[in-house]
Amino acid sequence: MFKRIPGTKDILPEEVSRWQQIERIAHRIFTIYNYQEIRFPILEEASLFNRSLGNYSEVVQKQMFLTRSGKDIYALRPEGTASVARAYIENNLDKIKGLLKVYYIGPMFRLERPQKGRLRQFHHIGCEVIGSQDSSLDAEIISLADALLNSFSINDYQIHLNSLGCKKDKHLLAQIIQNGLKDKLDRLCADCKRRFKVNILRILDCKNKDCQETIKQLEIQDKHLCLGCKTDFEELKENLRLLKIDYQINPYLVRGLDYYTGMVFEITHKRLGSQDALGAGGRYDNLIEELGGHSTPAVGFAFGVERLLLVSNFIPYNLESKKLIYIITLDKEAKKLGLELMNNLRKKGFCVDTDYEGKTLKGAMRKANDLKASFVIIIGEDELKKGVFTLRDMLSGGQKQLNKEQLIQELNLGIGLKQQSAKNATYSYLR
Ligand code: HAM
Repeated sequence: MFKRIPGTKDILPEEVSRWQQIERIAHRIFTIYNYQEIRFPILEEASLFNRSLGNYSEVVQKQMFLTRSGKDIYALRPEGTASVARAYIENNLDKIKGLLKVYYIGPMFRLERPQKGRLRQFHHIGCEVIGSQDSSLDAEIISLADALLNSFSINDYQIHLNSLGCKKDKHLLAQIIQNGLKDKLDRLCADCKRRFKVNILRILDCKNKDCQETIKQLEIQDKHLCLGCKTDFEELKENLRLLKIDYQINPYLVRGLDYYTGMVFEITHKRLGSQDALGAGGRYDNLIEELGGHSTPAVGFAFGVERLLLVSNFIPYNLESKKLIYIITLDKEAKKLGLELMNNLRKKGFCVDTDYEGKTLKGAMRKANDLKASFVIIIGEDELKKGVFTLRDMLSGGQKQLNKEQLIQELNLGIGLKQQSAKNATYSYLR
């Protein structure tokens, strides 16, 4: 028997309603904030991610799903920011759009060791704004993340905030860490000893207790920030206070992807356990230029949908709110008529199904009950002879024989659906 690959999931029909609900909410909130949806390929050139996330980032070093086609190496996208940046440059969106505000929902792939909240195929709900350095946009981005979480019925999350500063500031920060730690390397874990050489900022957010103790002694606050970056960060904090959004300053938050500059943030939730980040983001003012575009500032974030679902309190969308009509036919002739009636009713926008399992009347009624059908239409020998349909109201148990016109009239009344075009009817009916 085949089994799914560890770290991947089947989202079964019972769970899909929660996914649809979270996606529907996301579409609505992003639209309120005036973001448009973008869809980009799941496959990209692997070097796009090497350039964007950094050759020494964990994702590029260990987690890319790669495949070769001749001389080309492709990767299953591990995240969305690099793809949006590529699409922005490739489609000349700077000239066509000016400021670009986009969001995306879709699967991402990282070759991780699977555990709770850490998958190999997971999903992002993310957004990117390209073309403005305005620090009030940073506040919009965080308030948008906050609004999404509230709409997903998620509480008790913490927003951690830091500023890495511009490229020069990041360089200075790296120097401060290098000078502060060069005589204390023996106190660091093996990973941090390696990071010291290739990815020094990541030492700041190492989870190892000894490393954290040693790093605390460096007293990194905002001493690496230039005046411009300090002012931007102060403005952001002030705007967040204005918007009544709680946050914690965490000078050790650096993020694992190299493209970040300026403000970075991470949103955590205690109930998630060791993989506690619900989402994260920040500015990446140099990425567009590094990928071959003009110098263009940008900012964004992404949530992991599986983690949102682990802590969301929302009541699953009620699938049963659609009112099902179930047709039961008792012989071959009736089956033909049933097929025709089902087609007619569906065209009118009714939600209709029938028995395809050859059940007896009793078995089919039981099935209609299990499916929570609102009405059952029975067509048997008697009905065929009289040219009528038996309509049973499953709630009251009442039953009557009706001709086709009467049947449709009754269903319209019973289901509260006025005669509409099939398209509108389907929409209002299934909502
Ligand atoms: P990231 O922190 O790598 O950032 O991923 C964002 C979120 O995706 C994480 O906080 C987590 O909730 C979820 N996530 C990441 N890896 C996994 C996994 N293996 N299994 C389940 N969930 C996972 C980014 O990807 C950036 N592109 C965010 C961004 C957008 N920054 C600017 N714009």
